[in-house]
Amino acid sequence: KFMRRCTTQASNSDTVEPSEHEISSNGLNDVPSPGLDLRRFTDLQDQRRQEALRSVLVRHVGKATEEELTKFCSHFGEVQNSFTYGDKEQYTLLEYTSKGSVHSLLNTAHFRSVLEVVPYRSRLLSFRTSNWMNSSSKKHSVGEMTAEQRFSILATKLCAAQSMEEQMRVLVRETELSEGETRLRFLVCSLVEDAITGHFPGCIVHPFGSSVNGFGNKGCDLDMYLNLNVEEHKPKKKKSFPRMEYEVKTVPTERAATQNLLSTVGQGLAEFVPSCRHVQYILNARCPLVKFMHEATGIQCDLTSNNSIALKSSELLNLYSRIDPRVAPLVYAVRHWARLHHVTSNMPGGWITNFSLTALVIFFLQYTDKPVVPRIDALKELADKTDTCILEGNDCTLVSDLTKVPLSENTDSIDDLLLEFFEFYSNFNFRNCGLNLRTGEIQEKQNFDALYIQNPFEQQLNLSKNVSMHQLEKFVQLAREAAWMAEQPDFLQPEVGPKGGVTPWGLVSILSGYNKRKRRLMDQKEFTPILDSIKSGNSTRNSSHGNV
Ligand code: GTP
Ligand code: MG
Repeated sequence: KFMRRCTTQASNSDTVEPSEHEISSNGLNDVPSPGLDLRRFTDLQDQRRQEALRSVLVRHVGKATEEELTKFCSHFGEVQNSFTYGDKEQYTLLEYTSKGSVHSLLNTAHFRSVLEVVPYRSRLLSFRTSNWMNSSSKKHSVGEMTAEQRFSILATKLCAAQSMEEQMRVLVRETELSEGETRLRFLVCSLVEDAITGHFPGCIVHPFGSSVNGFGNKGCDLDMYLNLNVEEHKPKKKKSFPRMEYEVKTVPTERAATQNLLSTVGQGLAEFVPSCRHVQYILNARCPLVKFMHEATGIQCDLTSNNSIALKSSELLNLYSRIDPRVAPLVYAVRHWARLHHVTSNMPGGWITNFSLTALVIFFLQYTDKPVVPRIDALKELADKTDTCILEGNDCTLVSDLTKVPLSENTDSIDDLLLEFFEFYSNFNFRNCGLNLRTGEIQEKQNFDALYIQNPFEQQLNLSKNVSMHQLEKFVQLAREAAWMAEQPDFLQPEVGPKGGVTPWGLVSILSGYNKRKRRLMDQKEFTPILDSIKSGNSTRNSSHGNV
């Protein structure tokens, strides 16, 4: 057990405040905060999808203001929500109350009178007023902040908190996806879906991964899954004649079909769909994908197909994020710690992915003396008939009604749990043992993989197969350092620095690896200037763009 104890229990009524990212908005801040939403995952996704289908994204040309735009758009129907963002260029996401209004708006839109345009009608528009020629030159961009600058600003806010528990909540509030960012993600999926629908009527592009799993960070990639909804076209078991059949092209394997589909879709996005740029084809990966940048939103997208289990995995994580209010702050803290210490990386390789890292946190919360969250099998046992879900022959059934999940008897505070997490994995016998989230039990390792976490839905697979021994050892070593740091008597005591700032304490010590006793960083030399600026109280100087 650790020295400092701040045992305020997280309450179910915790709310998440709206983010600063919404530069200007009408109505968006009235949307109920995500908090602990008990609605079914599929209902939540569907609601977001419907909002996106009623929305357009509009670029402001020149001096066109949000007020002018909203006034113009109101001629076509009631505008339910709008929010404007952007620095170099401004964009407004505008949601109508009804889908018909979007069609009316699109019917009055013009193609620009320049040569050689591809006349593609999308819901990404530009709004030009009569004085657009008088517009001043584009706003001066403040420029992208480096990761170090962003951390410096975040660390200052964390150091100003009253307890480590508060630090963990501030971390979530400062780094989670805002309401507006979430809407943009669903809208990008909807725009991509529009582009594919011509070839495959009825297809759906679903967001998955951190955009919907409850652990998304500002700026995280947007994982998309293209579902062609072919099940509906599958021949009925009982054949009746005469009947019609589709003439189709045949391919040697399902994988080849996915590769061909993604390659064609990628080409379509690159050539016809505005704002989709830098398309890259990663078709030989285990899970073939097309990467591209959606410039109007600044979102990096990864489009996959034939990947329904990944969407179910996101539902599983999302369930856990809402079962207990302590799960999200813990996962955010661990993901941040891992990123800052280079335990995870966006590059493919032997790193522990954010998915595996989240599984490590969930397993710890299942396995701790009094479980904080139930094992997956228990979530399946609570399911009713309508929840039954078989994907690619795997039983992926999960309870969808969150009110059926019993509350945990564990009353540990989130900061205690974080420190217990580091202690738990500091001593875990990774050599012989694997983790089974379905049973919430440790199991004998089935093979020589460095880290073995049984895939919850494809149970014969290890979801951490990619992790190298070197990366696992680094994780354990850093977990030990974090646990050791937390045992130091002054771990939770902010000290006023020489120039009025405070020295890192609590969560900031763990995130930055700052060893108070030695008054230096353990291994993160790149953070030295940042910590100097926190100590001198200077890091808020250029914090006008305080989002991380
Ligand atoms: P970010 O790093 O914030 O994007 O987190 P993320 O949860 O979106 O992770 P990522 O984009 O790497 O992966 C998206 C989805 O792909 C996950 O939710 C999983 O469904 C799947 N996935 C990612 N990594 C793995 C892995 O190592 N094994 C398996 N089986 N699936 C993975
Ligand atoms: Mg992702």
